[in-house]
Amino acid sequence: MWGGRFSTGPDAIMEAINASIEFDKRLGPQDIESSIAHVDMLGATGILNVSDVSAIKEGLEEILNELNSGEFEFSKALEDIHMNIEARLKDKIGNPAGRLHTARSRNDQVATDFRLWVRGQIDLTDKNIADLMRALLDQAQSGVSWIMPGFTHLQTAQPITWGHHMMAYVEMFARDRSRFKDARNRMNECPLGSAALAGTSFPIDRDHTARALEFERPTANSLDAVSDRDFALEFLNSSSICAMHLSRLAEELVIWSSAQFKFIDLSDRFSTGSSIMPQKKNPDAAELVRAKIGRILGANIGLMTVMKGLPLAYSKDMQEDKEQVFDAADSLSLALCAMKGMIQDLTANKENLEFAAKSGFSTATDLADWLVRVLNLPFRDAHHVTGEIVSLAERSGCDLSELELKDMQSINSDINEDVFKVLSVENSVKSRSSYGGTSPKEVQFQIDRWKKVLG
Ligand code: ARG
Repeated sequence: MWGGRFSTGPDAIMEAINASIEFDKRLGPQDIESSIAHVDMLGATGILNVSDVSAIKEGLEEILNELNSGEFEFSKALEDIHMNIEARLKDKIGNPAGRLHTARSRNDQVATDFRLWVRGQIDLTDKNIADLMRALLDQAQSGVSWIMPGFTHLQTAQPITWGHHMMAYVEMFARDRSRFKDARNRMNECPLGSAALAGTSFPIDRDHTARALEFERPTANSLDAVSDRDFALEFLNSSSICAMHLSRLAEELVIWSSAQFKFIDLSDRFSTGSSIMPQKKNPDAAELVRAKIGRILGANIGLMTVMKGLPLAYSKDMQEDKEQVFDAADSLSLALCAMKGMIQDLTANKENLEFAAKSGFSTATDLADWLVRVLNLPFRDAHHVTGEIVSLAERSGCDLSELELKDMQSINSDINEDVFKVLSVENSVKSRSSYGGTSPKEVQFQIDRWKKVLG
């Protein structure tokens, strides 16, 4: 492959460690796309003549068909996708094939192909996240005023609405989308024409190739361009945060679908049974979504570790970038689609949610606030009085709203009938009408805002 310089071929182990074709074959379509842009530019600048350009382009288009139809035969001896495609071009069109690599190196070629691939994945991810957000929005709308317990430390804290809980995730996934968008903007520069590391002496037109590949502009430093994998790292960073969000939501689905909570039913389509316990319906999809963060964050740390300490410019270490990114991208895409399916299909159990909201003295804060507002107690005193009332209710085995007025008066004699108004979970959520709060009216406001954004 290397012509004059080498007298023997590589050792089998050398071939095994060096070849990347097993995985970088996925870059085939991007490799053809960037080669077509390159050869067009070589024609436009007069570096190649018209007949060579059209022979090369026709050959590349045929190869793309072979790749798409699965006919293409990959060779390990040819190392990677770039050499495989070039060799195939030579088979097809003969000598002009050798001119395609004018003013280019595999270093700028792989940097360009991989950017195109990652950019495409960002676009796919953006769509997947938007779909999931729509599913959450539908859930929020159908239970906008359903009451459930809100937790801190996974202990009952205050009543909230189902809609509010769903919309919390809409906010999280919206931030993920904006992180991917930022990463896309930053990576949208074209490395092609940086050549091996120093640029080229041929009179190329880098704006031409950048435009053809829909990049914003050419990269401005050839050394940086061939040795930069920030775009892949930013994709993995954003993917990790998104996977972390998915993992938190998945964990809630696992908890909520348990026999102890019974907040939701997951559909059969996203559950499995047990081979020994006939009663079981396991939330496997949620568990696997919860686990995907392991691979995705692993890839993030893996590639970061590969890149640290590499001197400029290209080093072969960088070939280790692809498998990690491919695996993370596939995992994220699958996890987003599975989560969308689960959210779309699940049914929330309104009665159980409300029943749970009424236990655990969830309106204790409302009682304390009432003591401040109506009896003018300092909040710290109100907190103490409420604590005593909660303890009384606990001893009598009832909820706050089920206590007798005279029992409460035994703790603070100024308490009157009026207090019962704030002890119901309905009034509690209705009262939390501050911007971003849990009241159905506020939640509806946010749902409407997001409906407009998502279309
Ligand atoms: N397969 C290589 C990679 O993925 C392509 C670049 C090879 N460049 C080189 N100078 N050996 O990184």
